[in-house]
Amino acid sequence: MLEIKKNYSLKNLNTFGLDISARLFARARNMKDLTGFLSGGYLKKHDFLILGKGSNILFTGDFEGVVFQPDIKGIEIVEEYNQTAVVEAGAGEDWDDFVQWCVSMGLGGVENLSYIPGSTGSAPIQNIGAYGAEAGNVIEKVNFIDLESLESKHAGRSECRFGYRDSIFKRDLKNKVIITSVVFRLSKIPFLNTSYGNLKEETEKLGKIDLENIRKAVISIRRSKLPEPSDLGNAGSFFKNPVVPDPFVRKLKESFSNMPVYPLKNGTSKIPAGWLIEKCGWKGKRKGDAGVHSKQALVLVNYGGAGGNEIFDLATEIRSSVLEKFGIDLEPEVVII
Ligand code: EPU
Repeated sequence: MLEIKKNYSLKNLNTFGLDISARLFARARNMKDLTGFLSGGYLKKHDFLILGKGSNILFTGDFEGVVFQPDIKGIEIVEEYNQTAVVEAGAGEDWDDFVQWCVSMGLGGVENLSYIPGSTGSAPIQNIGAYGAEAGNVIEKVNFIDLESLESKHAGRSECRFGYRDSIFKRDLKNKVIITSVVFRLSKIPFLNTSYGNLKEETEKLGKIDLENIRKAVISIRRSKLPEPSDLGNAGSFFKNPVVPDPFVRKLKESFSNMPVYPLKNGTSKIPAGWLIEKCGWKGKRKGDAGVHSKQALVLVNYGGAGGNEIFDLATEIRSSVLEKFGIDLEPEVVII
């Protein structure tokens, strides 16, 4: 049944735990309700926001429009081959439930992305990534409704234009579509990738390197560094890791020789924003109820009573100090509303 509510609190629908509300909130749990809601024209008449699980969003105040949550469930194998299986997951499936399902079915490709908060339908939008893997590498296509024509359409992997925390859904198709399901091509003979950081060591501590142990190791690494949104409001990494030209990196290295650098292919390198923020002295700092996590400086937290604006102001101060010290302007990774 389609739920439509007025002045609805989104406190439990944003992982910063901010006490804000939407003028109108609607949730559709199946395609019939979703198309029924869209044909009512609400999204054409009002400002709107499509919400997954609110794990990558910072509201700086109440939302004076329509917040719509497409909450379509279901995971199924839609095609099967000798070496791969094609799996379709509804946009409203919890991402980590989906990963758990894949691992339990012996299907590889998303195990390194264990324990990332969010919905499966949001995964392609910012091309979620962790521990050497990105969702875009295993996404075959994304099914969506075109908000102009209300027709069902899809984008294949190359059309999605996946990049680092980036896709067409953040660009040309932003606010133009509602993702209804995501189709993945997963491997029955998994290629196990433990090359990131200490993932190999952490997996080996658990026994042999397989899908289940990689999943367990990723969960334990994440738990050791990243706060649980249920304990401490947060939206994961607040900023993207900046990508800068190599000559600029060489110049910075003259002053900061121990700065970690991850070279990319095209004459640029990625620098961990967490390191830059820590070097500016922000790690563990607190301003009122807004703070910088003590174990991972890239994560901003809400100690309980912070308003979205306080978190935003803290982020702005951090951004200015990194710019001043390193000449690098950090770009937010979370969506700021
Ligand atoms: N570092 C510090 N101080 C800090 C944090 C990090 O010095 O406070 C340095 C360390 O040198 C560390 C390096 O940064 O070795 C990398 O840290 P980490 O492995 O924690 O990863 P990250 O680059 O900070 C990225 C993603 C995370 C993802 C991890 C693991 C981005 C913006 N963030 O963080 O994604 O879990 O790698 O793959 O790319 C998210 O997007 O919300 C998220 C948590």
